Amino acid sequence: MPQTDIVILKALLENQPGFVSGNLLANELGISRVGVWARLEKMRDMNFSFEAIRHRGYRLLQEPPTLNDRLVRAYLALYGNALDVSYLSEVDSTNSEAERLLAAGHRTPFAVLAATQTAGRGRLGRTWHSPNEGNLYASFAFRPQLPPMNMQTITLWLGLKVCEILNEEYQLPVRIKWPNDLLLEGKKVAGMLTEARIDTDRTRDLVFGLGMNVNGNIRNYPREIAGIATSLAAQKGEPLLINQVAARVCIAIIEGYNAFMEGAAKEDLVKLWNQYDCLCGRQVRGEFRGQPVDGEAAGIDSDGCLILKGSNGRTLHLSAGEVHLHTR
Ligand code: BTN
Repeated sequence: MPQTDIVILKALLENQPGFVSGNLLANELGISRVGVWARLEKMRDMNFSFEAIRHRGYRLLQEPPTLNDRLVRAYLALYGNALDVSYLSEVDSTNSEAERLLAAGHRTPFAVLAATQTAGRGRLGRTWHSPNEGNLYASFAFRPQLPPMNMQTITLWLGLKVCEILNEEYQLPVRIKWPNDLLLEGKKVAGMLTEARIDTDRTRDLVFGLGMNVNGNIRNYPREIAGIATSLAAQKGEPLLINQVAARVCIAIIEGYNAFMEGAAKEDLVKLWNQYDCLCGRQVRGEFRGQPVDGEAAGIDSDGCLILKGSNGRTLHLSAGEVHLHTR
């Protein structure tokens, strides 16, 4: 029945806050009006709330507070996107699941979404805290077939696409921190983890993982995270529609990837970076050839390296590692 539910939900979303006639839904689906009613009853068990009025039909009053596969797909359909999405209520890591699907020959592009992860991975062997609280844990799989060098800036580019959608659609001032963090008011709201399998001369497959605190209650997070993390909801002052956020982010990433493959990043990466960079002009400590270096962050170059102006007048281009802001 999921497909029936997706059609019903899409029609309800399309007409919000108006009503959709049960007759119309029944005709569209080729089922009886009782059949439509029965599907809505089933969805009430999934934390949807609907209003039903005689002679007017149904309308959607409330969406589930956590990820719901039917609703994400209904939003994707509403926005005209037919991305192949696998949804799991629980998984070890969406990146691992995407890698398993790739190894099994699953067609790309596809996305894996999960409501919670039991072994969410962060960069540098860290774990990604992944409670089931209306957050986004998502991985996107591609087979780029391009030399690894050409894919060097993909994480930064996709991160910028996520910044763009959150700024434009939700008026949230999300910024990017080189190389893989998204920040809101100076606190980490999302992290990115790109993993690739590389043959000698080409990237065979690539998984872009995104963990984003959307509605999670940061106060309940482990102490070492709670001090440095935030959520979109904390900034907005109210919960966001997680399923709508998930669909919009999915589309931003898929369209962003397509644009990247068509060469858009060559022209626009630095421009977009300058719009959303949170480090520019700040004193930071990074790493160059394994040694700590201090200087003023001055954006990125077209290869995605962080430009650091040292106090001795020397300019360095950092290609890897972490950067820390100087608090002094
Ligand atoms: C980081 O900031 O260190 C990167 C965190 C990336 C977390 C996401 S959550 C979805 C995907 N699955 C994982 O196991 N990790 C990424």
